[in-house]
Amino acid sequence: MSKLDNLIGQATAIAHPNLAIIKYWGKENELKNIPASPSLGIALNELHTVTKVYLKHPSSNSEETDRVFIDEKLQSDRRFANFFANLRELVDKRNPKMGKFIITACSSSDFPSSAGLASSASGFAALALACTSALKFELPAKQLSALARTGSASAARSTFGGFVRLDSGAIYANQIYDENWWPELRIIVVEIEKEAKELSSRAAMERVKMNSPFYQAWISDSKKNIDKSLAALEAKNLSALGPLIRRSYLRMFSTMFSSYPPIIYWKPASLAVIILCEKLRSAGLNIWETMDAGPQVKILCLEKEVPLLIEHLKTQFSHLPFWICKVGGPPYLSNND
Ligand code: DP6
Repeated sequence: MSKLDNLIGQATAIAHPNLAIIKYWGKENELKNIPASPSLGIALNELHTVTKVYLKHPSSNSEETDRVFIDEKLQSDRRFANFFANLRELVDKRNPKMGKFIITACSSSDFPSSAGLASSASGFAALALACTSALKFELPAKQLSALARTGSASAARSTFGGFVRLDSGAIYANQIYDENWWPELRIIVVEIEKEAKELSSRAAMERVKMNSPFYQAWISDSKKNIDKSLAALEAKNLSALGPLIRRSYLRMFSTMFSSYPPIIYWKPASLAVIILCEKLRSAGLNIWETMDAGPQVKILCLEKEVPLLIEHLKTQFSHLPFWICKVGGPPYLSNND
């Protein structure tokens, strides 16, 4: 009997990672994966995660289980259990006669995974779209975002293109502007290290919430930061948005530095790139860096400043790969299934 005999459906989806310029960091509810801080993110057009899923009924007396492979490596069930449980709940509501099914997903990205480049955002967004499409569900955007959030809260943003907001306490994200809103905006992603990080952002968030004396201050400060950021984005004013972007990532990291044991994702080269940005800003360039739970540095600037910035990066950091990204669109399905 062919292994496709029990096939319910298959689909391949492609999603961009979503870079937070105002950070989600900390959970209001760990079980439901609800964010405690509001965030604002941008889809990165030049980076992609491709996820192919097969859904099938289990063959009789088989002990098959859901399996997820990233770059051909089988992942731990624990990381995906919550997402799959939520997917099954959705199936029970929409199609109670479906019966049991098991999922196999194979995912790969054209950028390093689990390294602070938002691969969980693009990964769960692509997984949510591929699974619901294999089930032939056409979910409203908000429901797709809510499903992706149960895998990773940043993934709630990655189910949209353009500029996306995820509020504190929210179960889904909202698109603020699409990918055509600010055509001159560029995000330079500097890869400091390829290796997967040792501590996941989830574990780091838990530790920070448990014992950083700055955690509550971070949450109330990030709520103040978001409205000003939205106003600067509406005005397409990078000189106003930049200081808020910087404040968000540096205050997020202050909760990590002050937790016990301290969490230090930065590497010497991360700091060297931050210092270069500072130097170029003093010389009049309108460029603003940010970082996530990993050593990589992302720099926002306008198109006209890219050549000079790249010249400096190539001169000082010839060994570091980088991507020049535009603002990307929403996830999409591949036609090859
Ligand atoms: C620093 O979305 O990976 O990148 O919800 O626990 O899966 P979980 O966390 P995740 O955290 C992302 C944190 C961040 C900031 C951001 O993307 O907003």
